[in-house]
Amino acid sequence: MLQNTAIRPEFSEVDVDAEPVNTAKPDLLTVEEAKALDPQSMADLFKEHINPGQFHFMKLLGFHKVKIETAEGMYYVDQNGRKILDFFGGFGSLAHGHNHPRVIAARQKFQDEGRHEIAIAFLSQYASALAKNLAACSPGELDMVFLGSSGSEAMEAAVKVAERASGRPNCKIVHAGNSFHGKTKGVLSITDSDLYQGNFKLVENRIKVPFGDLEALTRAIESDPDIGVVVLETVQGGGGIISAPESYWKGVRALCDKHDVLWVADEVQCGYGRTGKFYAFEHYGVVPDVTALAKSLGAGKAAVGAMIAKREVYMKAYGSPKTAMIHAQATFGGIGEASITAIEGLNVLYDEDLIENAARVGDHLISRLKALQEKYPKIIKDVRGKGLMVGLEFQDFSKTMPAVLRPMISLLDDKLKGSLSGFIGAQLLRDYDILVAFTEYNRNVIRLEPPLVCTSENVDTFCDALDDLLSKGIVSIVNGFIKSQKG
Ligand SMILES: Cc1ncc(COP(=O)(O)O)c(C=O)c1O
Repeated sequence: MLQNTAIRPEFSEVDVDAEPVNTAKPDLLTVEEAKALDPQSMADLFKEHINPGQFHFMKLLGFHKVKIETAEGMYYVDQNGRKILDFFGGFGSLAHGHNHPRVIAARQKFQDEGRHEIAIAFLSQYASALAKNLAACSPGELDMVFLGSSGSEAMEAAVKVAERASGRPNCKIVHAGNSFHGKTKGVLSITDSDLYQGNFKLVENRIKVPFGDLEALTRAIESDPDIGVVVLETVQGGGGIISAPESYWKGVRALCDKHDVLWVADEVQCGYGRTGKFYAFEHYGVVPDVTALAKSLGAGKAAVGAMIAKREVYMKAYGSPKTAMIHAQATFGGIGEASITAIEGLNVLYDEDLIENAARVGDHLISRLKALQEKYPKIIKDVRGKGLMVGLEFQDFSKTMPAVLRPMISLLDDKLKGSLSGFIGAQLLRDYDILVAFTEYNRNVIRLEPPLVCTSENVDTFCDALDDLLSKGIVSIVNGFIKSQKG
């Protein structure tokens, strides 16, 4: 004690001239005040403190006027009591629909019982049970789990475990053209977007090949023995709902086996039952070495991401006490309420046959959209996808645009000029109370990823609305949009 004081005398000194620390409560909004903000104040705060540039796009689409008050099942409910049918589904984050009662009840009970959250000092029964459940849902030897809080974090973990397990000191990573794997710096390096990559200094050990091109992948792997990892979305979401045939995936598996390369399947968007199987790769009878889930894993109420690796891969990377902490759980990995939310979500997914429902209702959606494509071939270019992960591609009318529209269109934002999906999405919301999503890399594609609780009646409501809107013709659709900008 004495010795301590002698070594660190500053602890016993008080600086009487120091400025008093201001501990007065700043001007903080309360939860009740937050809930009561009106659209104008929300817009002002968003512009002032979050992202003024992004507000520009929200305004262009008319989304800035909507304040969501509540949500249930397939619907949002806005400040005027208007029910908005959700065919966007948070880019695949809402498999169970909004506020699933069983998920809410599990969370409520967990809180009422005063359970603990942070799980880094003690073992967590919740994280352990979630990891066991994920292993049970995963085929083959995919049974070692890393828990995080986002898709990017799960994919960072996936790429890192594969890179270490590849055993190559200068390991290179192959990724696909039009890929999206997240925006943190590691996975940003294998996200094929000039916009997102900006001018950041990125990880350099990467090689890009076209998606779905087995010959290109073979050439790359055979010409460079440093390639140790291949990272692919099983269905490209941001690329515009692009899939590859079974022969490609069988080829990827065989090629990786032959050259001792590890295959990482990004299932953050296409996994969790969305395509009609728990993992999209299960359609092709192959199993990757590592995979990742997020989005719907949090059952629409929590931020949960997971990397799931084959035990052999995991043990090579982090299997000894010496290597175990290299990529151990972060602060919020496996946090209590998030874990039990994911546990309940997985149980609901199977108890309510949501995967089967996705396959059945997805078939209905695709066949109705194909009928619309036949009816409006000059507007709809393609309908594609599996289950409830569907892409609706419009003809690029930037070159064929009716002359009457050119002057009007030239006033619009660059992002919208050649793209019908912006006009159609904005009017589906304004006139038909339906929300759809756009696609990062292909502005002509609307992404349909409704909750897996979607019914055939919901599909009919959506398709009837789209039919009605398209029957008005392109000139009227664009005109309607321009008018809404003035109003
Ligand atoms: C395929 C894929 N991987 C990774 C991510 C990143 O997930 P997050 O936004 O949760 O970080 C996304 C997000 O859209 C995605 O679609």
